[in-house]
Amino acid sequence: MEIDLTTKLHRRLQLPNPLIIASGPSVKNDRDIVQGLEAGAGGVVTKTITYDVNQQIQPRPRMHIVDKQSALARTRFYSFYSVDLMSEHPPEKWADLLKRAKMEISRREIEGVVIASIAGRTYEEWERLARMVSEAGADAIELNLSCPHVEPTYNGLMGRAAAYNPQIVSAIVRRVKENTDLPVIGKITPHGANPVELARTMVSAGADILVSTARFQGLILDVESMKPILWGGLGGYGGPWQLPISLAWTYNIVRELPQVVVIGSGGIASGLDIARFILVGARAVQVCTTIVVHGYGVVRVMLSELEEWMLRHGFSRIEDFRGLAIQNILPLEKLNREKIYRFTVVPEKCRICGVCVKVCPYRAVIDRGEEPPVVDESRCDVCGLCYTACPFDAIVINQMAS
Ligand SMILES: Cc1cc2nc3c(=O)[nH]c(=O)nc-3n(C[C@H](O)[C@H](O)[C@H](O)COP(=O)(O)O)c2cc1C
Ligand code: SF4
Ligand code: SF4
Repeated sequence: MEIDLTTKLHRRLQLPNPLIIASGPSVKNDRDIVQGLEAGAGGVVTKTITYDVNQQIQPRPRMHIVDKQSALARTRFYSFYSVDLMSEHPPEKWADLLKRAKMEISRREIEGVVIASIAGRTYEEWERLARMVSEAGADAIELNLSCPHVEPTYNGLMGRAAAYNPQIVSAIVRRVKENTDLPVIGKITPHGANPVELARTMVSAGADILVSTARFQGLILDVESMKPILWGGLGGYGGPWQLPISLAWTYNIVRELPQVVVIGSGGIASGLDIARFILVGARAVQVCTTIVVHGYGVVRVMLSELEEWMLRHGFSRIEDFRGLAIQNILPLEKLNREKIYRFTVVPEKCRICGVCVKVCPYRAVIDRGEEPPVVDESRCDVCGLCYTACPFDAIVINQMAS
C-alpha cells in the first residue's frame, strides 16, 4: 500500500507530511531552515523574531535535561528545562535569512513550508513584523502568544503574558491579519485557565490555524544552595510527560471548534505520538524538544514510525484516521460506574512484594504473609490501583461473567 502523508492546513499551506519542526534552537537561521526541511520535515517554524534586544541576548547556560537516560532512550519520562529566549537575529537580518532560505529551498527543489514566528512589544511592532516576514517570503506567520518566559510585569503584549488578556490577543491577531495575506497561526499557552477560550478568542479575531499547546513555566531549585539551578531564574518546562495534557487540550479544542485547523504539539517523541494527535483531530504536529535532543535525523525515524503504524492499521492517508478516536472518548457522564471488572492476583507471577497491600485505598488486598496476597471482592471498589502499581504485572483484570 502506498502511504501519502500530505496534509493541508490552509488553501495556501499544503505540507508534504504532518511533522513541523517547532520554533526553537533547531530553526535559528537560514541554514537550519534548509537542513530541517532536507531532513524530511513537512515544515519549520523559525525561532521567534522580535525587536526586543533583551530577548535577543541569551542567558548562558540555558538548557538542562532532567533524567538524561530517559531522554537519550526517547522515553516518556524526561523533562527539558530551559530559558532559551527569542531569536538572536534582529528582524532586518531575518528578512535576509528568510529570503536566502527560500531561494535555496526553491533552487534545490526541497519540499516543505517556512513559518515565521513573531513577537512584538507593541501593536505597531506586531504589524511591522507581519509585513516584514510576508515580504521576505514566509509561507505563514505564527504568533508567539505562548513564550513561558514573558512575565506580565515585563511586557503585556507578547508571549504568555499577552495570552492572559483576551482583548489583547484579539487585537494582536486582528492587527497582524490586517498586515498580511499569509495564513496566521495562533500558538496557545497551556498556562491560561481555559485554553479552549483562548482558542475561541484567536479564531474569532481571524486566526486561521491554532497550535495546541506550548509548554509551561517551571522552577528547579537546588535545595542545598537554595538557588535556582544553572541560570539562576525560572525556565520553560516541558518534555514528553506533557503529551497527555497537550493531547487533552487539543481534543477539547477540536471538539469545541470542529471547523478550526489545529496543529498538535507538546511532548511529541515518536511517530505514534503524531498518530495520537491526528486521531483527536489535529492536521499536523509541531515537535521541538525531541529534535533538540536527538537531532534532525529523528524526523525521518518518527515519520517511518508513523507510516508503519498507518500500514498496520490499513490507512493510506492522514485524512483516513484524522479524528477517528474522538468517538471513543467518553464524556464524564457516560463513563462506566458498574462493577463489571474484577482484579485477581496470579500466584505464579507474584513475588510477595507487598506493594498492592500498601496501595489499596479500601484495604481489600489481604496480606497472607509467606503466601501471595488475595483480593477480597467484598471490599474491593474496582479502582484499579493495585493492578497498575504491581511491579511484576502479577494482577490481572477480567470482565465479570454477567
Ligand atoms: C529550547 C527551546 C526553545 C524554544 N524557543 C521558542 C521560541 O523561540 N519561540 C516559540 O514560539 N517557542 C519556542 N519554544 C517552544 C517550542 O516551540 C514548543 O512549543 C514547545 O517546546 C513544546 O513542544 P515540544 O514538547 O515538542 O518541545 C522553545 C522550546 C524549547 C525547548
Ligand atoms: S504487588 Fe504484585 S507482586 Fe507485589 S504482592 Fe502484590 S501481586 Fe504480588
Ligand atoms: S482494585 Fe482498588 S480497591 Fe480493589 S483491591 Fe485493587 S486497589 Fe483495592
